[in-house]
Amino acid sequence: MSMPVRTEAGAEVRSPLAAEIERRRTFAIISHPDAGKTTLTEKLLLFGGAIQLAGQVKAKRNRKTTQSDWMAIEKERGISVVTSVMTFEYGDHVFNLLDTPGHEDFSEDTYRTLTAVDSAVMVIDAAKGIEARTRKLFEVCRMRDIPILTFINKMDRETRDPFDLLDEIEKTLALDTTPVNWPVGRGRDFTGTIEVQSGGVRLLEGDAGKAGTLREMSILEVAALNPSLDASAIEGEFELVREACKPFDLQAFREGHLSPVFFGSALKNFGVGDLLDALGRFAPPPRDQKADKRVVHAEEPRMSAFVFKIQANMDPNHRDRIAFARLCSGKLTRGMKVKQIRTGKSIALNAPQFFFAKDRSVADEAYAGDVVGIPNHGSVRIGDTLTEGEDLNFVGVPSFAPEILRRVRLPDAMKAKKLKEALQQLAEEGVVQVFRPHDGSPALVGVVGPLQLDVLRVRLMDEYGLEVSWDVSEFTLARWISSDDPKTFDTFVRSNSSSVADDLDGDPVFLARNQFNLDYTRERAPGIAFADIKDVK
Ligand code: G4P
Repeated sequence: MSMPVRTEAGAEVRSPLAAEIERRRTFAIISHPDAGKTTLTEKLLLFGGAIQLAGQVKAKRNRKTTQSDWMAIEKERGISVVTSVMTFEYGDHVFNLLDTPGHEDFSEDTYRTLTAVDSAVMVIDAAKGIEARTRKLFEVCRMRDIPILTFINKMDRETRDPFDLLDEIEKTLALDTTPVNWPVGRGRDFTGTIEVQSGGVRLLEGDAGKAGTLREMSILEVAALNPSLDASAIEGEFELVREACKPFDLQAFREGHLSPVFFGSALKNFGVGDLLDALGRFAPPPRDQKADKRVVHAEEPRMSAFVFKIQANMDPNHRDRIAFARLCSGKLTRGMKVKQIRTGKSIALNAPQFFFAKDRSVADEAYAGDVVGIPNHGSVRIGDTLTEGEDLNFVGVPSFAPEILRRVRLPDAMKAKKLKEALQQLAEEGVVQVFRPHDGSPALVGVVGPLQLDVLRVRLMDEYGLEVSWDVSEFTLARWISSDDPKTFDTFVRSNSSSVADDLDGDPVFLARNQFNLDYTRERAPGIAFADIKDVK
């Protein structure tokens, strides 16, 4: 870690590097489709001045289930590239908002993106409470103890009881809650919010004003603004909130045990300012990152980063790609040379990019916590660690065992070599996993959701001129295999050669026909570990 500088009087002065890093907030929004992620993203960007008008964040269409919608947005790849990460400044902070695909078929991408954030905002629809996908994404955050802020959205519509919603979060997610503000009225009667700590009131006025100025008003005065409100009931409810709810505890939040809760309406831009202020005040600056050899501290002067996402570039005729790298420590300057640990090669970062809502620009410098795009022609892969020379690998960018396996059928056998190359490239991009059986039979592709197969087929056609279809495979499950004892491992691989394949990195997987076949094999091979998640090195 960089040494703290002290003045003569002994006060600690942060180094300029530490100060830059400390003001970074890198986060994602997790939610079930339709809870309001896109609307909230847009309003956050409006605050940050990254966009001028609402309606510019189009990434939401990614979630629509039909193939044609997905393909249409893929054609507008420019938009999906730039919305992968959105950087904006607000107050004293630099925010990096990492987008996660809405559709669950692309959940692997989402899980990887969550390895690159320091906190998350969980958006909940006030009428629906915790929904399936929210819970799943929350669990991924919990695995990494990512602190969560909760935004209960759509308070301008009919909602469930706010106490009920808090109770549901506490019970179903085992997460303590502290309401930061409390709604006055709901649905048509939603009039504003009261800050629990200060008692300050924000009113929903006209088009909701920007953030809604904080006013000193009594509950009676607020209630008088709306004849349908029952002032004494509101007073009673607020008393209860003050008595019953836990006080905010920064440490519990930072450790992922407690979530500050905001009630608001993204559509009406209400509560969004409070949320953004809280992200600045409470959410952690760039965290320490675990590497294989040691823990890397964000404020170390030497730059290090890992790649968590690859996106093909806009022009399908060139195999240009953008690798999204999260900086873990130090400072990146344009033109610097970094070592790619997997290959040992040196890469010059001549045109690292920053992303805003609709634009990107060349980054002259970036700091730990930031996400930069590194244009490349396929040399950089998901999971790659980049450093200024030190040999270490960040751990924890996962690969998930596919849920669907298919054999690729290629009518034109002359194009087999081209198919091999194409699959290799698309697998490096994280579009699909490819498994090459040891017995020489045709490669299998593996995906998490069926929509990924559609995307793969169309991209093989559009970008490589390859017309393929899928054959159902005799295998339905894949598990990464390993053993502490090389001999046991060799014997296993040899005696199961028709069911063993190598993944993209040459790591062996066992292919099982079904769960029974997997369990049966596992029982008979005690020295072999079967894993459904692999840490990408
Ligand atoms: P998502 O990205 O999480 O899927 O949700 P999105 O923001 O697209 O919001 C889903 C729908 O909910 C949208 O309506 C949006 O306008 C609405 N919405 C979001 N926040 C609020 C809110 O605070 N209050 C109310 N009343 N509605 C909200 P839609 O009709 O499906 O789409 P659109 O045609 O309005 O874009």
